[in-house]
Amino acid sequence: MKSWKVGLLFSEIGVTSIIERSQLHGALLAIDRINASGGVRGRPVEPVRYEPESVTQRYGELAEKMIVEDKINVIFGCYTSSSRKEVLPVVERRNALFFYPTLYEGFEYSPNVIYGGACPNQNSVPLANYLMKAYGNRFYFVGSDYIYPRESNRVMRNILRQGGGEVLGEAYFDLEAKGADFASVIDDIMEKKPDVVFATVVGQSCIEFVKAYHAAGGNGRLCPIASLTMNEGEIDAIGPEASAGHITAAPYFRSINSPANRRFLKSYEEKFGSTVDVTSCCEAAYSQVHMFAKALDETGELETECLREALLGASFDAPQGQIKIDPDNNHTYLQSRIAKVDETGEFVVESKVRRAIKPDPYLVFPAIHDWSFRTLKVAASGRENE
Ligand code: ACM
Repeated sequence: MKSWKVGLLFSEIGVTSIIERSQLHGALLAIDRINASGGVRGRPVEPVRYEPESVTQRYGELAEKMIVEDKINVIFGCYTSSSRKEVLPVVERRNALFFYPTLYEGFEYSPNVIYGGACPNQNSVPLANYLMKAYGNRFYFVGSDYIYPRESNRVMRNILRQGGGEVLGEAYFDLEAKGADFASVIDDIMEKKPDVVFATVVGQSCIEFVKAYHAAGGNGRLCPIASLTMNEGEIDAIGPEASAGHITAAPYFRSINSPANRRFLKSYEEKFGSTVDVTSCCEAAYSQVHMFAKALDETGELETECLREALLGASFDAPQGQIKIDPDNNHTYLQSRIAKVDETGEFVVESKVRRAIKPDPYLVFPAIHDWSFRTLKVAASGRENE
């Protein structure tokens, strides 16, 4: 039987392999579920996978290969914004459709991309408000040296400025940085004593940084590391002792105690044997594949314009709650939660917005004080109850 071929461009090797493997698993799980219930219009979805090894240029080269040699028109992939920027001109030139299931810095639109992760108005803005109220407004920025951390810090600096905050220091490191490379910046943090370290170090270097901070006496309960790129997979690799007290904002956390999330985690565990690496980016990949399949069921063809027409405005009951693709900008209405790592190494959701937030990738409406967050009553289990 003829299948619907889709490309998957996630790395299981290299510096971002932990998070990208979780995205790959999310996509593969969704494909399994779709095929188990009869596929799309009776035909199975067939994943075609290539391994970019976390090497930025490889993502663009492999996207080209998928489209030209394998005749694939729909691709899911990428974690870093630099790899997305490699794929972007390829899918635009070839008029393919690219699903990007990752939080990013915003300030981008392509008719060939469906953005499934949070942009700054859905994570940085609520996170900054929370941190300034709970900890204070003196921040220190530490990031990896590429577009996402630099742009994301630019946005964060503006938000802080509006809230009367200040940035005490700002430093960038290679994606391959090891613990010892952070020694002098950690010394500076210890000396300046900020209220919060806002970290945009990604992948393996995030793990190295958090461990080095802990080893130097950094304490998440006194001066937390707040990071949008520190997910369940990284926390598991860091260990509970060094990660306790640190904070993340994301649309989804594994600890959400809702029927939809329990079903998602059960099927994930059945397929992969454990849920340790389930992250917001994994959930975004899972949801994007489902939304694609629903659109394909409507159109019956993989042609970009038809699929985009069906996708814009479409909604989905995701494990995080209901989400919807915004027809204004191809980004996604997402839930927004803030969680802190507890003593056992699990994220405990501390607050959330009441409904999915409209994506505002260009921060046209940058009002920072009108977030209707509510503080959750955390159940005795320490997990978010919905
Ligand atoms: C990222 O580079 N968008 C995390």
